[in-house]
Amino acid sequence: MRIQQLVLGPVAFASLAIAAPAPLGLVVRDGATVDDCPGYEASNVKKTDSSLTADLTLAGDACNVYTDDVKDLKLLVEFQSKHRLHVKIFDADEQVYQVQEELVPRPENGETPSGDADLAFDLVEKPFSFKVTRKENDEVLFDTSGAQLIFEAQYVRLRTSLPKDPNIYGLGEHSDPFRLPNVNYHRTMWNSESPFLPTNANLYGSHPVYFDHRGDKGTHGVFLLNANGMKIDLNLTDSGDQYLQYNTIGGVLDFYFLAGKQPAEVSKQYADTVGYSAMFPYWTFGFHQCKYGYWDVNMVAEVVGNYSTAGIPLEVMWTDIDYMDLRQDFTTDPERFPLGKMRELVSTLHSRGQRYVLILDPGVHFKEGYAPYEKGHEMGVFYKDADGSDNFGVQWPGTVAWPDWLAPNTSEWWADQIATTFSADEGIDLDGIWVDMNEASNFCQNQACNPLDDQGNPPAPGNAPRPNTGRPIPGFPADFQPSGSKLRARQDSDGKHKGLPGRDLFVSKYDPVNHRGGLPDYTLWTNNTNADGTKVYDTHNLYGHAMSHVTYDAMLARRPGLRPMVLTRSTFAGNGRKSTHWFGDNESSWEHYRLSIRQMLAWVSMHQMPMVGSDVCGFNGNADELMCARWALLGAFQPFYRNHAEISAIHQEFYQWPLTIEAGKKAIDTRYKLIDYAYTALYYQTTEGTPMINPLFFLYPEDENTFGIQHQWFYGDALLISPVTTDYSDSVTFYLPEDIFYDYWTGEREDGKGANVTRNGVSWTDIPVHIRGGTIIPQRANSTNTTAELRKQDFVFLVAPDADGKAKGRLYIDEGEMIEQTDVTELDITYDNGEITVGGTWGYKGLKGESITLKSFKILGQNGIAMGSLGENSKLDEDSGAVTVEGTWSLDGDFSTHI
Ligand code: GLC
Repeated sequence: MRIQQLVLGPVAFASLAIAAPAPLGLVVRDGATVDDCPGYEASNVKKTDSSLTADLTLAGDACNVYTDDVKDLKLLVEFQSKHRLHVKIFDADEQVYQVQEELVPRPENGETPSGDADLAFDLVEKPFSFKVTRKENDEVLFDTSGAQLIFEAQYVRLRTSLPKDPNIYGLGEHSDPFRLPNVNYHRTMWNSESPFLPTNANLYGSHPVYFDHRGDKGTHGVFLLNANGMKIDLNLTDSGDQYLQYNTIGGVLDFYFLAGKQPAEVSKQYADTVGYSAMFPYWTFGFHQCKYGYWDVNMVAEVVGNYSTAGIPLEVMWTDIDYMDLRQDFTTDPERFPLGKMRELVSTLHSRGQRYVLILDPGVHFKEGYAPYEKGHEMGVFYKDADGSDNFGVQWPGTVAWPDWLAPNTSEWWADQIATTFSADEGIDLDGIWVDMNEASNFCQNQACNPLDDQGNPPAPGNAPRPNTGRPIPGFPADFQPSGSKLRARQDSDGKHKGLPGRDLFVSKYDPVNHRGGLPDYTLWTNNTNADGTKVYDTHNLYGHAMSHVTYDAMLARRPGLRPMVLTRSTFAGNGRKSTHWFGDNESSWEHYRLSIRQMLAWVSMHQMPMVGSDVCGFNGNADELMCARWALLGAFQPFYRNHAEISAIHQEFYQWPLTIEAGKKAIDTRYKLIDYAYTALYYQTTEGTPMINPLFFLYPEDENTFGIQHQWFYGDALLISPVTTDYSDSVTFYLPEDIFYDYWTGEREDGKGANVTRNGVSWTDIPVHIRGGTIIPQRANSTNTTAELRKQDFVFLVAPDADGKAKGRLYIDEGEMIEQTDVTELDITYDNGEITVGGTWGYKGLKGESITLKSFKILGQNGIAMGSLGENSKLDEDSGAVTVEGTWSLDGDFSTHI
C-alpha cells in the first residue's frame, strides 16, 4: 500500500473549502419568521377502509425561514393494527432522507378497518392539520392545528397541543427528570460523547418516542421515526397553552401512534413497532467488574483473585482499551497483555465458570502495516474524502479512519477481524463485546481539525493516561481552535430517500442545540457520504446503532447459535433488538446514583432496551465507601450490573472497603437468588414486550402520586425497590401505593396506604424491598459464586397473597445461552387461599446438571392461621407470619399442593 495516497493534508482542505459551491438551501427571505409560514393545503384526499392519502401543497408564499420550503408533500395514513396508527408526511419527490429499513425494519401493516381501530384520525384540509383521538373517551391525543406545518430542506416543524400539566416520559437519552418538565424545556437528539452526563443536553443515544400518561383516561405513545438531528420543545404558548413541538434538521415526519391504553400496553405496542429486545444469556445477569486502567494482564487476574479472596462472586471480568497495543482495535499489547498470557487468563476464567468481555472502538488506526486498517482500506469500508482518500478523525490510537457500517464489505471485514482476534483456537476466546465511542466520538473538534500534521503524519498514539475531566485532542495543544474552514461534500446525493441535494451538511441554520457545539464538532464529519448514497448529516444518530448490530452479527458468526452479548454506548430506537447499553460516563456522585434509577426506568419500559444499567459506584471521580456500598445494593436490582471506573479514579472494586464487601456480598447473594425471576421477566419482555422494570405508575396508573416517582421501581412486576436516595443518609421516605405489601427481608406484611412511609436507620448494607401482594417469586434456595453453579441450586417459590388470598407468578427456564431453544419450561404458578397449582409447558430437563427441583413454598401473611389447618409438611413462623411448605417436587409435570 502506498501510504502517500491516503494522506489528506491541510492544503487539500483549504483548496476544497474554497472550491465549494454556495449551498443552495440557504436562501432566506428577509425578515421572515416561522410565523410567516403559510402551512399546507390538503387535496386529492383518497380513503380506503384502512388508509387515507392526500397531497399537501404549500398554501401560500414560501417562507424559506431556515432553508427552502418543500412545496409538494404527501400524506399517508394507515390503520396498521387496532392499536397502531401510522401517519407519514413526506416530500412528493421522495428525495428527502428516510431511515434505512435495514437499520430500523418497519412494522407490518395489518390493514385494520378504521372502524375497528382504537384511534381516530381527523384531517383538516386548509390549512392542513390533523388530530388523533382515542375513540373510547373522545380524548384528543395529538392535534397539530396550533401552528402551521413547516417542511423545509433543513428544517421541519410540527406542533401538537397537549393538555395542561401533561405527564410526558421518554425521549431518551437524557439525564433529566423521568417525568419531563413541561415549560421552557427542550430535548435535543444528536448522539454525542457526553462525559458527566450533563442535564438538559443531548447524550449518547436518540429515541424519539414519548409516553403520554393521562391517568384514568389512558396512556398512549408517539414514536417519530426520524433519525435526523432534532430538538423537541415542551412549552407553553403566549396564551398559556401547552404544546410539544418537533423541530428536525431533515428527514420526514413518520409517526406511529400507539393507543395503549394501559402503560405496559404502550410498551408492547412500541416493541411491535421497532422490534422486540433480543434475549440475552443467563450469565449477563451475573456481576461484572471493569475499570479503565487495569494496566496489565496480571492486574486483571489480580482483581479476579481479590474478588475470590474477599468471597464476593464475580461472573464477568472486563478489560478496557488498556489491553490493546497502542490502543488499536484487534491487537494486544505485547508486553502488558501478551496474547499467550491473555489466552491463559481466559481459559482460567472459563474453567472457573467466569466470563470475559473486551472493548472495541470504531476508529481504526491509520497506520502503515496495521492489518485491520490496510484490509479495511482495501475492502473500501472507510468513509472517503473528496479526493478519494480515507476520511480521518482522532480516537484513542491517534488518527483513525471511520468504518461505514452501511458499506457492502464492512460487515465481512469486521466479522473477519473479530473471528481472527477472538478465535477460540488462537485468539482471545471472549464471551461478549463492548462497543464504545460510537456516536461517533472524535477527539478532533470539527472539520477544521486536521488529524495529520504538516508532514502528513498522524499524532502519537495516546497511550498516556488521560486527565479526569474533558478530553485532550491527542497531538494538539489544549487551546487548539478551529479556523472554520470547511470541507464540502464531494457529491450531491440523488435518488430515492438519499437526502435532498444542495444542503449545507456542516451547518444547519436551525440550531438543534448540540451541547458539544456544531453538528460536526467532536464527531465523524457530517458531510460524509454513506455507501448507499445517504449523508452522515442524516444518519449520524444511527452510527452506533449500526455498529452494534454489525458487531452482534459478527459475534453470532464467531460463536454460531450462541446469544451474543454486545454492550453499546450509542443507540437509536430499536437498538435493543441486538444490544445492551450502559448509561455512559457518569460520575461517582450521589446525584448520579439517583440518576441511574430514572434513566433505567425510561430505557427499559419506554425504549425497549431491557439489559441496561449505569457504571456502578460511578465512572468519573472517586467513589467512597458509603456511596459505593449503597450503589452496590442499588445496582443489584437493575438489569445490567457492572462496576466500572475511569483511569484516574481510585479503585472501587467491592472488595476495597469493609462496607462494600458486606453490601456487595448481600447484594449479589440476593440478586443471584432472584436471577430466574429476572430472567423470566426479561424473557417476557423479549416475547410479549412487558417491561422487566416497571415505573410505579405502570402498575398503579390511576394513582396520581405515582406519576412523578423516579427513585423507586419495580424489579419485575413484584419487587418494589425503595433505596435510600439522600446523600450519606440512613433514612428514606418512599411511597407505598394502596395495596398489600410484604417486607422482602423479614416477610412481614406492610399495608400500603397510598402515602409516604419513612424508614430510619437503614444501614449501609441494607435496601428497602417490598413484595407486592398478589405475586409469586421463583427463587433459588442458595446463592453461589457463578451463575453456572447457581443453576444447580434447587428452587423455592415465595408467595405473597393479595387481599383476596390469591397470587400468581411465572417461571421460564431454558438452557441459558442458545438463540434457538428447543426444550423450555414455562410455568404458571397460582395460589388461591392455601391451594397451590403449578402448570405449564415442561421442556427443560436440566441436562447440564442444573436443578429442576423445587424444595419449598413460602407463603407470606399467614399470621393467625390455625395450626391444625396446616399439613404435616407445613410450618408457621410466628414472627413473620410465613408458612413454609417443605417437599420435593420435580419441575417436570403439573402438580398441586396445599399449605
Ligand atoms: C469511554 C467510555 C468508558 C471507557 C473509556 C476508555 O469514555 O465511555 O467507559 O472506560 O472510554 O475506553
